[in-house]
Amino acid sequence: MARPDGRGLQPPISNPFRRRVEAAGGISLPPWTGYEDWEKRRIQYANQQRGTLEGYDCPECLNRGYFLVLEPDGSRRTRECRCMARRRSMQSLARSGLAELAKRYTLESWQRESPWQSQALALARGWLASGPTGWFYLAGGPGTGKTHLCVGLCARLVESGREVRYAVWRDLTVRAKALVNQPEAYQALVEPLKTVEVLYIDDLFKTGRDQAPTSGDVNLAFELLNARYNRPSCVTLLSSQWNINGLLELDEALGSRIYERSRGFYLDFTGRPNHRLLS
Ligand SMILES: Nc1ncnc2c1ncn2[C@@H]1O[C@H](COP(=O)(O)OP(=O)(O)OP(=O)(O)O)[C@@H](O)[C@H]1O
Ligand SMILES: [Mg+2]
Ligand SMILES: [Zn+2]
Repeated sequence: MARPDGRGLQPPISNPFRRRVEAAGGISLPPWTGYEDWEKRRIQYANQQRGTLEGYDCPECLNRGYFLVLEPDGSRRTRECRCMARRRSMQSLARSGLAELAKRYTLESWQRESPWQSQALALARGWLASGPTGWFYLAGGPGTGKTHLCVGLCARLVESGREVRYAVWRDLTVRAKALVNQPEAYQALVEPLKTVEVLYIDDLFKTGRDQAPTSGDVNLAFELLNARYNRPSCVTLLSSQWNINGLLELDEALGSRIYERSRGFYLDFTGRPNHRLLS
């Protein structure tokens, strides 16, 4: 039967099929319903069903992650929902170890009460805008915002699709030292950190009781950072209470590599106030 909207004839659906559909859906299909209409209905129905994806509640795809689309030739295609990019970033952020910190430490929440904080943010944004291939090194005392700024940068890199890993130096060195006699487990810990696209090492050379780094510490840092130095695509962020001069004095081979790779993107917050003590 011709459709009242004049869109031409479609192959009609068969009567037994029509009855099945009507009975199942508790609906009554217009007599001109053809396969195209039917396909549209099915797609519309499928696109209204709730999905089971977790982590972000998407009002568009209702957590299915995709839409069914009817092509002009009558075939069906799936189109990914916009939320999938966001979901992948969130999973990547969880894998990076930064998910919790990244909620609080964002570039947007970075306060600029003093000019040095504005300059720091501008440099951080400039580094991001360079589509970073170089390193970012942030030195300074406790509570000056090193972790905050670096985590904010890492979250942006995750959003732009880079694989990021977060490592706290003290935990890393304790774990690595415990594995010295287990080469395979040691490799499993250290190798991924040598090759991951973006690595943020927080509090480099900070030890439990503010002791000087041991030769074991320096060797581990050199092993990791030299491997990354030799891979130009590896981006590294470092924060430390050691400034670059201190690092050069401690170990010139290590310090000069960091100096070279983070040239232009080195900040020293030494002497700045401890934000934790401000009310
Ligand atoms: N410019 C800033 N704007 C907003 N919050 C800040 C700023 N600087 C520091 N903070 C806050 O102060 C606290 C301490 O900052 P953060 O942890 O980044 O310091 P840190 O330099 O990494 O210190 P530590 O060497 O002890 O690890 C955090 O809660 C952080 O969010
Ligand atoms: Mg910190
Ligand atoms: Zn969605």
